Amino acid sequence: MPIANMRDLLAEARREKRAVGSFSVSSINMIMGIVNAAEQLHTPVILQVAEKRLRDGELAILGAAMLAAAKQSSQPIGVHLDHGETIECIRRALELGFTSVMYDGSRLPLEENICQTNKVMELARPFHAAVEAEIGSVGKTETGQAAPAICAKPEEGVHFLKETGVDALAVAIGNAHGVYVGAPHLRFEVLEEMLKSCDTPFVLHGGTGISDADFHRAAQLGMLKINIATATFMAATQAAQGAQDYFEMIRRIEAAAEQVAMHHIRIFGVKAKEEV
Ligand code: 13P
Repeated sequence: MPIANMRDLLAEARREKRAVGSFSVSSINMIMGIVNAAEQLHTPVILQVAEKRLRDGELAILGAAMLAAAKQSSQPIGVHLDHGETIECIRRALELGFTSVMYDGSRLPLEENICQTNKVMELARPFHAAVEAEIGSVGKTETGQAAPAICAKPEEGVHFLKETGVDALAVAIGNAHGVYVGAPHLRFEVLEEMLKSCDTPFVLHGGTGISDADFHRAAQLGMLKINIATATFMAATQAAQGAQDYFEMIRRIEAAAEQVAMHHIRIFGVKAKEEV
């Protein structure tokens, strides 16, 4: 199956009234577990890795494994750079063949975020890769460092989309990366306001710990890509405990990633059966 573009995956998800799970990976076994889940449930997913999680040279190695797994899968799989912060890393991901990249300028003033995002749009165009950006600020960074959660303003979102034309927009509505302290309170009215004047797919970051009801509401309101990272990493860490040897440990990690992905894909919605 050719590697899928995020644009097509999100358009199909919109038609089928579901969301696409975008799962962060950090090893070959995690990649395999998530692709197995997609195949068992006959539903496309996105594999992603965040720039901050990568050491020097790791993008080429892990990225090659993500791309190979996507190519040999029976399901359409997108390969995505999550929270790209530098043009160098985004360029490298595009050259490797990633089908989408996120530029995270959410901590910049809005006009600067727009300007930098437009540079990434230019960079991605010849690769036909999709671009995700962020407004507002998702609480905590994707590596768990403290950072304030700043709820996006609807009028800023509409202005951002008009000025950039990004393929997907992460909108901070009270969500946070990592483990939530107390139940998250998501401000869905921000999306409802934006929907009056735009129909760009939204992205929900900080998926770990969000309730099933909120996942459904988010998907209904056009959050068509939902990111999951911490749940997989925690399940893998727990599964690795007590393994007799290295090989048992990596198999357990694969199985844990598969279970976490299956659990979330079922909540986000499985792909409609094809007519024969
Ligand atoms: P969690 O770690 O909360 O699942 O968030 C994942 C994410 O949004 C990665 O960008």
